[in-house]
Amino acid sequence: MAVGSVLLLVAVGAVVWVGFAPPAQSQHVVAVKTPSATPTPTPTSTPLLSREQLALTPPMGWNSWNDVGCTGLTAQVVEQTADDIVAEGLQKVGYDYVVVDDCWQGGRTASGELYPDATRFPNGMKVVADYVHSLGLKFGIYAAPGSETCGNYFSQYPIQGIGSLGHEKQDADLFASWGVDYLKYDWCRADINDHITEQAAYQTMEQDLQATGRNIVFSMSDYGVQSPWLWAPGIANPWRTTHDIHPLWSSVLQHIDLQVPVTQYAGPGHWNDPDMLEIGDGGLTPTEETTHFAMWCMLAAPLFLGTNIENLTPAEPHQVSSGGGIELWMRPLTKGRYAVALFNTTSATQTMTSSLSALGVPAGTYKVRDAVDRANDAPTSGAVSGTAASHGIVVYELTPAS
Ligand code: GLA
Repeated sequence: MAVGSVLLLVAVGAVVWVGFAPPAQSQHVVAVKTPSATPTPTPTSTPLLSREQLALTPPMGWNSWNDVGCTGLTAQVVEQTADDIVAEGLQKVGYDYVVVDDCWQGGRTASGELYPDATRFPNGMKVVADYVHSLGLKFGIYAAPGSETCGNYFSQYPIQGIGSLGHEKQDADLFASWGVDYLKYDWCRADINDHITEQAAYQTMEQDLQATGRNIVFSMSDYGVQSPWLWAPGIANPWRTTHDIHPLWSSVLQHIDLQVPVTQYAGPGHWNDPDMLEIGDGGLTPTEETTHFAMWCMLAAPLFLGTNIENLTPAEPHQVSSGGGIELWMRPLTKGRYAVALFNTTSATQTMTSSLSALGVPAGTYKVRDAVDRANDAPTSGAVSGTAASHGIVVYELTPAS
């Protein structure tokens, strides 16, 4: 797979490449919201694609789980993330799925229809999906083939009976009516608890998804336990090959090692999924994050960011200008901060000055910290200046004053 445009990002100081070629086809209200009638699926205007045609390149986007987990999931987070994906230019390099993972569910009505938690999703899920679509992004959701979800087992999520067992068609139709474009279907001990088998369970949901008439990428999550690479092409698009990743180097390395025997099974429409990205989640060094990302690209793995996208900013420093023996460099940091460097390449001491605008720093007033001398200087809204010996450098960290 060809690596297309590559955008170097930093997550709280940590470096990340982000980008593949874009896909080829390409407040709190506490009242339980109970939908009145089973919605009719809305077929898309685009023709129904075969399972294999649905993900000709590995899906890319954001998934809520590694970012906000079970407890932090809200409509506001999802919508803000969608905004950030667009604002940060991630959509342009192929990050187009916004996936709501586990713990969105509020329960089932008497007729068995799933509904979202009214506190977290006060206006329902379709409103969120519509918002995501309004930005030109695609919307994904999480379900489980057994009677319960992993959140019930592992995250003490208290709402029971939210798995799709016995409700597969009803759930597929509901998701299609909301405009879901991507379903993560997460095994969660359904064999142990519900005595069902994986291939049959995934096949059932796959057929129900196809029957909705909507193109819905089907992401299978059985952690590689039943060797899905041997039987899931044509049923699922990505399939998980591992248990959950964690923001630890040992976990990243283990997940890479687990791909070695299965790489040959991935291809257009059916991808090995060594789990989501842990970039920006605090447990990896910048070097480890770069390796994590690069290896997921090498593996043609789905790329799902799992961090607060507002904290991702371009990491690439660049030379702003060079002349008269003085080089000016600038690097955006997180939270609206900038690093600027004034580099004296001459053989004599120089006082160097540059306007903020010449450095490419947006207009505003900034607190100035000398990063070499570790001292605070006077705030500036116009220019920065400093004196350095021959071959010396002045580096400032600029932080918005308000
Ligand atoms: C499992 C999955 C995770 C996430 C959680 C949600 O652990 O592997 O990716 O979906 O369930 O509960």
